[in-house]
Amino acid sequence: MCGIVGYFGSDKARQYLLEGLERLEYRGYDSAGISILDHEKNRFVSVKTVGRVETLKKRTSHLKEAMLGMGHTRWATHGGVSETNAHPHYAYNGRFIVVHNGVIDNYKTLKADHLKGIDVVNDTNTEVIASLLARFAEKMTVEDAIKQTLDLLEGSFALLILDQDHPSVLYGAKNKSPLILATSNGDWYIASDLLALPSNTERFHVMSDHTWFKLENKTLTSYQAHGATIDFDFEAFKDLGPLAERGEHAHFMLKEMLEQPQILETLVAHHQSHGFDEALVTALKEASSLEIIAAGTSWHAGLVGKHLLEKTLMKPVNVHIASEFAYHPPFVSEHPLFIFISQSGETADLIACHPYIKTKEAPLLTITNVPTSSLSRMADYVLDLKAGPEIAVASTKAYTAQITMIALLCAHITHDQALSNDILTIASSMREFLQDHIKIQPLVKELLTNHHAFYMGRGLDYLTGLEAALKLKEISYIQTEGFAAGELKHGTIALIEEDTPIIALIGEASTSALTRNNIHEVEARGAKALVISFKSLSEPTDAIIFEDVNPMLSPLLLVVPTQLIAYYAALMRGLDIDKPRNLAKSVTVE
Ligand code: M6R
Repeated sequence: MCGIVGYFGSDKARQYLLEGLERLEYRGYDSAGISILDHEKNRFVSVKTVGRVETLKKRTSHLKEAMLGMGHTRWATHGGVSETNAHPHYAYNGRFIVVHNGVIDNYKTLKADHLKGIDVVNDTNTEVIASLLARFAEKMTVEDAIKQTLDLLEGSFALLILDQDHPSVLYGAKNKSPLILATSNGDWYIASDLLALPSNTERFHVMSDHTWFKLENKTLTSYQAHGATIDFDFEAFKDLGPLAERGEHAHFMLKEMLEQPQILETLVAHHQSHGFDEALVTALKEASSLEIIAAGTSWHAGLVGKHLLEKTLMKPVNVHIASEFAYHPPFVSEHPLFIFISQSGETADLIACHPYIKTKEAPLLTITNVPTSSLSRMADYVLDLKAGPEIAVASTKAYTAQITMIALLCAHITHDQALSNDILTIASSMREFLQDHIKIQPLVKELLTNHHAFYMGRGLDYLTGLEAALKLKEISYIQTEGFAAGELKHGTIALIEEDTPIIALIGEASTSALTRNNIHEVEARGAKALVISFKSLSEPTDAIIFEDVNPMLSPLLLVVPTQLIAYYAALMRGLDIDKPRNLAKSVTVE
């Protein structure tokens, strides 16, 4: 979703802003813009464009280098995709310029209460911030105007602010949306995502909610919302280097799928040598129930995790869709332990659940790929997926890492060395299968000729089917439904006609015969069925057959061909695989 970069240093503003915005492209956006200091005029100039940063680069090629500036990529929420709605936004009198990530929930009230008679230029909820600053600064210092404005804003924001009257100052503020301040060689860099920082960054600070800062002539003063100064503590920066690069691969998604076996092995090795925090293990054992909260692919990983955790801990494990949980919290047991599962650690729907969780005074574990993220900082315990940056919007390696992490936690609790070895067996089967991934292409060509498709299975296979369906629909735009095979005759069979593509997953011995019956039923109605199975449950006509693995971990392997099916379906349609339309990598607004 939206991204922010800022620079205050010697003379690299234009270069860094454009490079930083390029590094934020993976998050998904529809327009971009920068404001940069014109040293001759001692004023900021802004350039905005719809579409790619590449276009912004061309349109800013005439601008000279500068010591101060800020940039933004916008993913439309309030107001359509247009140059006018792209950031930066100006105050009504042109004095303050703002870039903003997040949503100001009370912007209409603020307009009505404080900005009567002021013409609104665009449809966004950001313009109101710049205009409030201008209005208040008529009567007070800029610092007081910022405090007053921040006091009034309800919702989420990461903000950078420039003042045309004082072009040697940059302000930043944060609540709920991430903002990071970093230094290198005496220059300051600001970004909404660690991945946007330059590789030579030395130290960084992840801002806390209700804090803001002022950079004046490169000198930092940091504040709490109400104005008291505080110290920001900085930590050493580790460059992610090639991990965040596509290398020889055609797409990040392909690279990330291929990384999966190694990630499983790394996680096994790490937890075999480091174990898990015993305080977490005790908390898990003492809790009366576990409440997993997640969205999208991470929710699917949570559904699989439930099976593993329930068998291990012999207590109820409930899995909630974050956006539902936040506003319709269900009845939970007396001593719950909450678990956030989130690749990015920034998903707004999960952040919105936190106030309720706090009221329960219960322990919170976050399982994430970004240990510096907002959801990590809210938690009592954090499990780092160590999967390396996931850039493709379609989540692949994070899903298998999330399930592996939960399986390893279970193995640790029950001292089950065999389970860890089973993960290693799966990693080598994955590697072998992925080596020859091109073999999926002809299967896809033959099968996915329609605008719709189905995945079916039972038990864990059904859960894998849900994830498989999400993957296929989000990058190939083929309308796909994953359903419990037992539900076929309760409705879905009405949609089966000549050539309907159905992919059946068979990894569960107790139900494989029943799912086979369902395959016969759809084939009898003309459907084209493709079966993915394990050897002991297979039939000679199955398209993909894996060697048997521990059935509790079967989703880890079964999901891999489905990821490749989605990838090749999108490739054959000539689609933008890593950045599918309308989607964002990190969903930072509700
Ligand atoms: O970063 P998170 O794991 O919290 O993200 C949750 C979903 O937005 C994410 O999994 C989404 O469904 C992916 N695009 C799926 O591939």
